[in-house]
Amino acid sequence: MKIINVVGARPNFMKIAPLMAAYKNAPAIQPVLVHTGQHYDERMSDLFFRQLGIPQPQVNLGVGSGSHAAQTAQIMTAFEPILLEQKPQAVLVVGDVNSTIACGLVAVKLGVKLVHVEAGLRSGDRTMPEEINRLLTDAISDLLFCTEPAGVENLAREGVPAEKVFLVGNVMIDTLLKNRQQAEDSPILEQLSLQSERYAVLTLHRPANVDDPAVFGGLLSALEAIQKDLPIVFPIHPRTMRNLSASNLAGRIEKMSNLRLIEPAGYLDFLKLMAHARLVLTDSGGIQEETTILRVPCLTLRENTERPITAQFGSNRIVGADPENILPAYRQVMSGPPRTGQIPPLWDGHAAQRIVKILLEKL
Ligand code: UD1
Repeated sequence: MKIINVVGARPNFMKIAPLMAAYKNAPAIQPVLVHTGQHYDERMSDLFFRQLGIPQPQVNLGVGSGSHAAQTAQIMTAFEPILLEQKPQAVLVVGDVNSTIACGLVAVKLGVKLVHVEAGLRSGDRTMPEEINRLLTDAISDLLFCTEPAGVENLAREGVPAEKVFLVGNVMIDTLLKNRQQAEDSPILEQLSLQSERYAVLTLHRPANVDDPAVFGGLLSALEAIQKDLPIVFPIHPRTMRNLSASNLAGRIEKMSNLRLIEPAGYLDFLKLMAHARLVLTDSGGIQEETTILRVPCLTLRENTERPITAQFGSNRIVGADPENILPAYRQVMSGPPRTGQIPPLWDGHAAQRIVKILLEKL
């Protein structure tokens, strides 16, 4: 049984790695890995393949960046001939990036079964491109694997038949638990002269936060205050870097003597940075989950989350982008314990094995 597995953007790599490893114990499955090329920089792509031991993709579509329409269309046009040639029994997509929906659409139109890993997550915010990608991918998938109970409930509410939906845990957490020890060997804290539990990690890349200078400027006001108290390390996404350079906000960053801008970090360095942080500030989806398993306090700089279990169970707080809300939440975190929250059910490092077992039964 041939399964084409699709990756495209940075957060996909941690999700596909444990599946590629689990297929090794399922000789009935012949996995083929396709990289769309949505992310292509060494530090956004190749580094993750090496660190996570992901096999080289058999095919790289090399689509690169573009507007949503252009990128999605290019992925579809490039993926269709691959499917026609490979004739797989199924296509497996992960997460919520443009590569996910683009390859999903091509698969179902050619009558190939579609498997979605990390299904059912909903922020309720349709201005997020990822929310549209999630809704559409789930609507056309044949097997849907969820990380948390809210995902299962969302799919039931949208009328997805229960027999297609499986709560299996979190493949990204499989990768984190597998690499947790190895990440301790990363020299990143010494390189940046940081002391364990005496710094914050920041990531920002959502269009809603970094494309609008007014919102980005508001976030910088909060960061200006926080960095006076606690050093902040900021691995900067290329999109954020580009926006910063194009606006007059770069000068404000330069003036913050305790905020350290660094290149996008590799997986192991970033895991070590998170694991030893006093707190993480982020607008990422996946980092809300990673800080939950590490029990590191996380302030999510968005108005909503598609991963509610991280706030109900885990160490996450949804604080939005307004400094008036961020600063009181920051002070509360600093007056609380450095490690907090509980681990969600099934986030135990074995999600990929559960998925492969179900694929063998159902496909
Ligand atoms: C994409 C995903 C987002 C995910 C994020 C993680 C969509 C709609 N968005 O957003 O869900 O959280 O990846 O990083 O799929 N660029 C580079 N080098 C690269 C890749 C991108 O310089 O290797 C720059 C380009 O200027 C590009 C911009 O980043 O135009 C945005 O890249 P794109 O893939 O369109 O979206 P992300 O913002 O990375």
